[in-house]
Order: sequence, then C-alpha cells, then structure tokens
Amino acid sequence: MSLPELIVAGNWKMNGVRADLAEIEAVRAGIPASCKAGVWIFPPATIIGAAAALNGGMHVLTGAQDCHAKDSGAFTGDLSAPILKDAGAAAIIVGHSERRSGHGETSREVKAKASAVLKAGLPVIVCLGETRGERESGLAASVCTRQLADSLPAESTPENTVIAYEPVWAIGTGLQATTEDITAIHAVLRAELAKREGTGGQRWRILYGGSVSPANAAGIFESGEVDGALVGGASLKAASFLAIIAAGAQALERRKS
Ligand code: PGA
Repeated sequence: MSLPELIVAGNWKMNGVRADLAEIEAVRAGIPASCKAGVWIFPPATIIGAAAALNGGMHVLTGAQDCHAKDSGAFTGDLSAPILKDAGAAAIIVGHSERRSGHGETSREVKAKASAVLKAGLPVIVCLGETRGERESGLAASVCTRQLADSLPAESTPENTVIAYEPVWAIGTGLQATTEDITAIHAVLRAELAKREGTGGQRWRILYGGSVSPANAAGIFESGEVDGALVGGASLKAASFLAIIAAGAQALERRKS
C-alpha cells in the first residue's frame, strides 16, 4: 500500500442516495488528469458498491465511514471491515467524533476497529480532536496526543494509516481552526508519530477536518504540516468538492516545485 502525498477525502455522513451518485460522477469527470492529490469519497454504505463500480480504477477511491471491530457474528445492523471491503470499500474511517459522541465509542474501541480495517488489508483513517471546552482549557494538544496513543493500533504504519485531526467544535459549525492552530496540533501529532516510527514522522499523512470549504481550503493547505482534508458538508456537491480538490492539487504542485 502506498498512500497519496495529499488526500482530499469527502465524508458524506448520513447523506446520499443512488441519485447522488451523479455527484461522484461529476467529481470524477471534473478532476484534471494532472491532479496528483488522492481523492477519497465515503458515501453511506448502501451506495458504496455502486460508487465503487462507477469509480473503477480511476482517480476516486470509495470508502466506508465506520465498521465493527469483529469480522462477523451476531451483531444486528453492523457492518464489518471484510463485508465493507467485499462491497467495494477501499478504505475505512474510524473514530469520527460523531461516532465517539453519538455512539459512546472510546479510543479503545476505535483502536480495535482500526485493527480490523488493517487486518482486512485496507487503509484506515483514524479521527481525533478536542472539544471546545478542552481547547478553551488549553488541553487541545494533550487530548489529541492521548487520543492518538489510545486509538492507534501497534500495526499502524505511514503506509496503512492516515490521521485526521478534527476539532469537534469546528465540525459542521462553520467555525474553522486557524492555519496556525492546525499546524501546531499537526506538529505535535507528527512528533508523537515520529517516536513510534523512529524517523522524522514526515511519511505520516495528517489530514485536517472541520468546516473545510472552497473559501478556506487553500489557506489550510498552505501549511506544510497539512497532508490533506477530511471534508463533510462541502463534499456533498461536486462543485464545492472539486474546488477543494483543486486547492489541494495546487498546494501539492507548489510543494514539489
Ligand atoms: P464538516 O465535517 O466539513 O461538515 O465540518 C467534517 C467531518 O466531520 O469530517
């Protein structure tokens, strides 16, 4: 597995029916051939198969938003990593704050889910981030460091795992962390990842998420610490998602030149 240097990922959350596959088609059609950024879309599980068939081998990778930690069994309504892989998922998100808060998922459970994704042979995006109260108390860095340590399985490497820093207060609120704040947390996370790996940590992909939009994406990608974005609301429509992809592709071009 080798991950793209910069990833623009769209998390559709509980939005999207078959009619919305047209948006994915439009994204695919709108990505310039020269684009080096990875484009990943995470629609509801019900349309993963159709989206993956649509994308077949092209620029856009289709993934799932969550999975169960077990491969199979008596877990009514749940979906496992092997089941999602069979349906066409080529990556899985775990630990999104809406899972942590809405479903009481702990970092320990997130770690077990991440392990299951890796065991299925898929890359995993592990999400973490502080609440508004934690940030206001000056605890953002320590909370994120703790979540990273507790959520990442031992088998995670820069080749199979992507980190998404998503401050909870910035998700779906229109409130955006400043590029300085994002850079600071990413640097802290990278230093922790470097300790695990024994190198500079540069090979790890750390995405930012939280109200990323066509208006702020270029500024966020200016930070050399940011290896892409996990986009919610602005990924639902091809036009706004394509604008963010373009900003990512341009940032990548600049870094390479
Ligand atoms: P948002 O969501 O872009 O709508 O804030 C981001 C996310 O939850 O991944």
